[in-house]
Amino acid sequence: MVFGGTLFIGTVALWASKAVAVDNGLAVTPQMGWDNWNAFGCDVSETLLTQTAQLIVDYGLKDLGYHYVILDDCWSTGRNASNNNSLIADSTKFPRGMAAVADDIHALGLGFGMYSDAGKYTCGGYAGSLGYETVDANTFASWGVDYLKYDNCYNMGQAGNQMISSGRYEVMGNALNATGRPILYSLCNWGEDYPWNWGSTIANSWRISGDIFDSWDMADARCPCDGDDAWNCGLPGFHCSVTNIMNKASFIVSKAQPGAWNDLDMLEVGNGAMTDAEYVAHFSMWAAVKSPLIMGNDIRTIPPADLAILSNPAVIAVSQDPSGSSAARRWIYATNDTDINGRATIQMWSGNLKSTTGGDQSDMVVLLINGNKNTIVLNATLADIFVDNGPLGTAPQVKLSWEVRDLWANRMSDDEAKAIIDASSAVGNATTGYNATTIGAGRYNATKTSYADGLAANSSLLLGKVSTTVQPSGTITATVDPHGAAMFRLRAMPTGSLKRDEL
Ligand code: GAL
Repeated sequence: MVFGGTLFIGTVALWASKAVAVDNGLAVTPQMGWDNWNAFGCDVSETLLTQTAQLIVDYGLKDLGYHYVILDDCWSTGRNASNNNSLIADSTKFPRGMAAVADDIHALGLGFGMYSDAGKYTCGGYAGSLGYETVDANTFASWGVDYLKYDNCYNMGQAGNQMISSGRYEVMGNALNATGRPILYSLCNWGEDYPWNWGSTIANSWRISGDIFDSWDMADARCPCDGDDAWNCGLPGFHCSVTNIMNKASFIVSKAQPGAWNDLDMLEVGNGAMTDAEYVAHFSMWAAVKSPLIMGNDIRTIPPADLAILSNPAVIAVSQDPSGSSAARRWIYATNDTDINGRATIQMWSGNLKSTTGGDQSDMVVLLINGNKNTIVLNATLADIFVDNGPLGTAPQVKLSWEVRDLWANRMSDDEAKAIIDASSAVGNATTGYNATTIGAGRYNATKTSYADGLAANSSLLLGKVSTTVQPSGTITATVDPHGAAMFRLRAMPTGSLKRDEL
């Protein structure tokens, strides 16, 4: 069976026979981890990284699949002319050097990510890698780096069409590959020159927008391109709201594939400026469209409710689904129920997931998004959910009954999240120590059982809670919080009539 560009025989995907994404074997499902930029900007240090790494372990986030600890901009003091012009790590921020940081992170079973820029300078004004790709790739490899985020500032005008931009980014991709060390390659050119058209052959992911802002829908002139031509944004900007980025993603969902993903930017969950419902919707969307899930908050001060959001295995299982296919927006309607600076819409997204019922029929993820400032009841018809399989209700799936599973119903309680936080001694909490068999008991551990295997085994932690069934030609209904989302997994129910037809 050929599915989404991948040849499946049984459950084994044969990449080599039909490689359409960069073949470094990484990010077969969207990468997960943490990056300091959204919460800390340039305020980086060895302590920040090693404390955060320890907490990712202590809070069970590593077990859930968050793997890369990524150091963003502002870490160097320039180049060393007497050592092949290699980059120098700032010895005040990183007194033991970068390799020691990498060693500590590796000792915890995590990966180490770093940042550079395909330009003369980084966005923070530090030395960039343009013209120094080979020496820098070799330095990163020698330090034990597992992931490179590669930015676009000060690119000396080497942009403006796809060939120039892709060529500039390919130089670093080749240099990374030539090191022989598997290094996940994350492009950060903000969607300039349509990286979704060329990124998959040289990298594992590409940013599609200017920088995210901790806001649901606040309009900001510095992040333009909010309409039907958002895919064609000549000025990516920054201060982009969650809904602005969702809109940009809606046009290019088909470009996501195993090993190569649309990057909607790092998560804002936990940074404090959005409501709980908004963070739920943000996390749900990022999972459904297969964006990398890179936490962007201060883990050392994470509120329990935000730990609960980031720790929802049923939602992460959608992100990490083996079929690697993004959900798509099926409808969007503008409404008037908004604040003066917001833009309200209601939206429905759906997408194929690998079957967990053993049959040929894919599971389906369904998202109902309420952009209104008031609670609303939203409906999704099977005809709209399955429109890709036939317009106007003609899809065969519309004739089936479906089990509807709420993917947020089993969200960890704030009390449990607080107990997990309190058990870690890493940042001066109680000193009982995290104990995965007691405090972590019953939580999903993707480092032991991959999401693919857990789904195949019908792990109840991954499938959500049965909330209802929907009959042929039926409708799913959900009451959705302001700026919130309802998220469901649909599973096909056995059909008596089909069996009769077969006789
Ligand atoms: C931006 C990038 C951000 C962050 C920042 C560092 O261009 O999009 O994610 O890396 O540079 O200066």
